Amino acid sequence: MAEPRSRPPSAGRGCFIAFEGGEGCGKSTQAKRLADHLGAVLTREPGGTQVGVALRAILLDRSTTGLSDRAEALLMAADRAQHVHEVVGPALAAGRHVVTDRFAGSSVAYQGFGRGLDPAEVRRVSEWACDGVWPDLVVLLDLDPAVAAGRIGPAPDRFEDESAAFHDRVAAGFRAQADAEPDRWTVVDASGSVAQVADAVRAVVEERLQLGS
Ligand code: TYD
Repeated sequence: MAEPRSRPPSAGRGCFIAFEGGEGCGKSTQAKRLADHLGAVLTREPGGTQVGVALRAILLDRSTTGLSDRAEALLMAADRAQHVHEVVGPALAAGRHVVTDRFAGSSVAYQGFGRGLDPAEVRRVSEWACDGVWPDLVVLLDLDPAVAAGRIGPAPDRFEDESAAFHDRVAAGFRAQADAEPDRWTVVDASGSVAQVADAVRAVVEERLQLGS
């Protein structure tokens, strides 16, 4: 299978930026800040489409029990396929920048490293689901899972409910992806204030994607 397309985007096409990281690292806040700054379409996974909202309910609800690891991976991939088809692909083709709160890196980290499926296979499933649409830049917000755990609200979902060992494997999975693809991934220290992290994100995005402010 051909490698998903790397930077730079073709003329007239927008840039596709994905935020990744563990629970409670501040991704949603930072994705929104960057999208506002760039005038980009802001979206998320799972749940960036109507079909995705239904899939998200199945995937996150603690009343979902006995879901197999492979079924979980395929539902995440189905959410991604619909998301790319309905939201991400058309926006990029129309020349809009797109910022997503999670993408394929989360499947590799959670279903691969976390659940114990083969990370390369999990990635290939996502590549197939995305049909050539792949982030130009992935921003990994790096925060110690033990610190992040303190930021999680009172009603944890099916993933937040997982053990500290699971979240440590997920964090290692994100770092491994960033190490393996330094041209596509960038790691931002998420331990600072919202404004400090937002400044760091903005600087690296503008530099890597040559998006002038
Ligand atoms: P969400 O509430 O969006 O989490 P967060 O605010 O931490 O981003 O829930 C998404 C959950 O789904 C999160 O625990 C990570 C998990 N997930 C996967 O396991 N695999 C995936 O491919 C994606 C996109 C998310």
